[in-house]
Amino acid sequence: MNVENSLDLDWIRSQFPALSIEVAGGPAVFLDAPGGTQVPQQVVSAVSDALVNANANTHGAFLTSQRVDQIIAAAHQAAGDFLGCDADEVVFGPNMTSLTFSLSRAMGRALKPGDEIVLTYLDHDANFAPWKALEETGAVIRVADFRREDCTLDIDQLLGLINHNTKIVAVGYASNSVGSINDVAQIAAAAKAVGAYSFIDAVHYAPHGPIDVRAIGCDFLACSAYKFFGPHQGILYGRRELLERLRPYKVRPASDEPPWRWETGTQNHEAMAGVTAAVDYLAALGERLGETGARRQQLQASMHATSAYERRLSEKLIAGLLDIPSVEFFGIRELERFSQRTPTVSIRVQGLSPRDVVERLAELGFFVWEGNYYALNLSERLGVESSGGMIRIGCAHYNTLSEIDRLLAAIETL
Ligand SMILES: Cc1ncc(COP(=O)(O)O)c(C=O)c1O
Repeated sequence: MNVENSLDLDWIRSQFPALSIEVAGGPAVFLDAPGGTQVPQQVVSAVSDALVNANANTHGAFLTSQRVDQIIAAAHQAAGDFLGCDADEVVFGPNMTSLTFSLSRAMGRALKPGDEIVLTYLDHDANFAPWKALEETGAVIRVADFRREDCTLDIDQLLGLINHNTKIVAVGYASNSVGSINDVAQIAAAAKAVGAYSFIDAVHYAPHGPIDVRAIGCDFLACSAYKFFGPHQGILYGRRELLERLRPYKVRPASDEPPWRWETGTQNHEAMAGVTAAVDYLAALGERLGETGARRQQLQASMHATSAYERRLSEKLIAGLLDIPSVEFFGIRELERFSQRTPTVSIRVQGLSPRDVVERLAELGFFVWEGNYYALNLSERLGVESSGGMIRIGCAHYNTLSEIDRLLAAIETL
């Protein structure tokens, strides 16, 4: 089956108004997905509709407030369908970073000197700094490294760091810099075996494959809707029992029931409306692929199909980049290992700073990021931090093979 045809790229692209933005007389090419994806029109409409028709605070006796209550309930249900959990196991917050700091601070209340926390050098700093901050409780931080040759986590080293003093294991589902996917189920099981909590940063993985928190067996998992076609809205899954047991910092009048006890202050209700619309967009894609079951099934169908298509984008992109002699490539490059990576690649171009490269590409209409993208430990350990980091090319399912061809041609002319 031709995956590109089965995905109906014309329909997909027509859903995303931003894709018609032009630069230098041609359509812009959005290869900045790992920094935030574009949004379909139904997300734009849902956010704007919420601001017009449901602009109030919660639990009021009047119409607009009741609509807000409905938006909140619908968004928890939608995010639950997206992650494979119940609606009351979903906590919303401003972004993944803030949610993770809130959670780490709450978890830190129970830590004692000598307790251990296991992290990785592959992660975004939002899954490093909030846990590292717990050193102030006397906790000891242990960090697993990644292999320089393919930028994949040294999982044996990580598993070796987990012991009976370990209280928290925090790992990324996939690297937002080099795309490597970790075996998060194996890591969650190892944490569980010693009674430690597992926390998964799924921000980068979320637009690239189906997530099932029960199958992973993790205690917590965080993501951000703006990375999977929604608005800027952080989302945290927490196992119900833990959302009940752990003590968040909260104001007294707010409900003590989970998930509300974790959602401090007035939330971004219009963004929640957008989250539901983003999940519904992905479900509609699943329905177009022939899945007529419940929304969760449609989401699974959609994410399986988009990840198969994205693999084709990766094949073309990575093969093309490896063919350009001046390109230095970081990460998994072998076709047969592409199930272990997302369509996000980092490169450098000999003789040019990453900033120079992305500025020249931007003039030609290609939107790509450069720097460390907050995966600071990785950038430092690869020895590229002091010279501008790397250039990140990140695909989403709305990208086309012809965009990849044009990008490769543009890089060659540099
Ligand atoms: C892997 C990963 N984790 C965490 C974050 C932080 O997410 P947020 O911007 O929602 O705080 C990002 C954002 O780039 C990311 O890519």
